[in-house]
Amino acid sequence: MSSILLLNGPNLNLLGTREPEIYGATTLLQLESQCRDWGRVLGLMVDCQQSNHEGELVDAIQQAGTKYHGVIINAGALTHTSVALLDAVRAVGLPVIETHLTNVQSRESFRRRSYIAQAALGVISGFGADSYRLALEAMARHLSDRRGADGS
Ligand code: DQA
Repeated sequence: MSSILLLNGPNLNLLGTREPEIYGATTLLQLESQCRDWGRVLGLMVDCQQSNHEGELVDAIQQAGTKYHGVIINAGALTHTSVALLDAVRAVGLPVIETHLTNVQSRESFRRRSYIAQAALGVISGFGADSYRLALEAMARHLSDRRGADGS
């Protein structure tokens, strides 16, 4: 079974009460539990972490390099500002999928730039909690294709 780190960034701990008209009514705990369930069906063991602090997210990505097969990250607002997160993703060399609950391309112009996307396998944005489910499906497929290519 492959193991995946699901990393959520600043303010995502407030899901459920934070601007529910934009981000929905599902809490982070509910979302994480759904992701573990979706992961199980796909053969992925999903560990979840959330931090409001850039350095803690960098630490989590660095540590993921030796513990996980891939990372799914919603870095919140740090998506649009953090070269440190981009460098961490490049440094570990793990497959990373960026997710967003909202369609960041259709919102304010400052949300259109993502640093992490430059090193990510892909970006899934705009489908609410389903963005995470789609990211898990994409990760499961990527890891199994890679295993096939390795002949393992
Ligand atoms: C978000 C989009 C970001 O622009 C915003 O800062 C967030 C949430 C999303 O999931 O839609 O905190 O990453």
